[in-house]
Amino acid sequence: SGSIPSFESTYMFKEIMYQPKVVSRIYDLYSQPVQIRKMDLLCSKISKCRRILFLSCGTSYFATLAILSSFEHVLELNGLNCDVYSINASTRVDDIPRIRSSDVCIMVTQSGETADVLKIAKKAVAQGATVAAITNSLFSSATRIAGQMQTFYINAGVEVAVASTKAFSGQILTMMLLLSYLRGGIAEYQNTLSILPDFSVLLTNTLINSADIMQMYAAKISRHPSCLVVGRGKLSSVAYEGALKMKEVSYIHAEGIASGDLKHGTLALVHDDMPVIYLATPLPSKETCGTGSDSLHIGLSQITSRVENRDNILVIATEEFAKKMSSDMNVIIIPSIQSILKEQTKLSYFIEKTDCLQLLMNVVPLQLLSLFSACTRGWNVDKPRNLAKSVTVL
Ligand code: G6P
Repeated sequence: SGSIPSFESTYMFKEIMYQPKVVSRIYDLYSQPVQIRKMDLLCSKISKCRRILFLSCGTSYFATLAILSSFEHVLELNGLNCDVYSINASTRVDDIPRIRSSDVCIMVTQSGETADVLKIAKKAVAQGATVAAITNSLFSSATRIAGQMQTFYINAGVEVAVASTKAFSGQILTMMLLLSYLRGGIAEYQNTLSILPDFSVLLTNTLINSADIMQMYAAKISRHPSCLVVGRGKLSSVAYEGALKMKEVSYIHAEGIASGDLKHGTLALVHDDMPVIYLATPLPSKETCGTGSDSLHIGLSQITSRVENRDNILVIATEEFAKKMSSDMNVIIIPSIQSILKEQTKLSYFIEKTDCLQLLMNVVPLQLLSLFSACTRGWNVDKPRNLAKSVTVL
């Protein structure tokens, strides 16, 4: 770790490394009866509502996108007559979407103070909608609006670095628990909880194992003004979040894009001088989101067929996927959650939760990459220029 200047002392690094602990803290908190009762209350409201609307911005918005199709699938499996949407509050604040009393709005906000989110949430309250919050601050405006019984704490500990990392994990895990309760009540919820201790260990290993490769790739990418982060299907939300992290702290222009969307314009940017990070961790519920191994290979070859300098490509892959890849690209192997949990027979019928955990696992190397790139370039990662930890103005 000697080659990158002083990253160990940054909050961002400490917060990235704290994520396995966030998993344990979520486990502890959500084992408590009062939290289970809150889950039950919200799920009973959801089962009667017409729409679930997530309200969020920035990294929190990408957390909701990551989980959106899993929610959709569960609503369908459960035969619920309800749809789910994610609203990027910053894009709708001057043009507030229609909200009805039959809607359940869920603010997802680390700080609980993001003005754009609060503005839409207040409108939702005025319309008589149910308003809940998933937040890292129990004494925030979001909590006041939602009330204690409809506030779900992500228990990530204070997040200091402007670029959000451990809060993203806390949000995904909390939404995954909500999703589990919705799918199969207390039994499914407990099953999901029981996976978390093992997942925490896997996450620690991934953090440790990815550090060296990410430092090496950071040295490469730091010389470029721009990069692409590509993910197919559900993996696209991870690509968006990875690109946001790059922009925030390294000031490298990054575009996160769904692999299928490349052909509609951005593919013109793929050439020898453009670093591309490609996410290739097949998701188990491929029928619903098109991220099976085959479609991931198609997506990757779309890129490699346009690039001679394969050394500029980084693939974040499961072992199984990496075996079938040509060896001239950089690759980082991360665990396949589904196969590990299946071996341990900890998997019940409900597969979406492993997707959520896989997405979380994928994001971790990207967080490290942005940190290392920023430190290589000599920036203050904890306080990037022009940005605030919490944007409390409209
Ligand atoms: C700011 C921060 C981001 C954060 C976003 C939403 O833009 O710089 O890191 O993701 O606000 O913040 P929230 O507190 O609502 O999650």
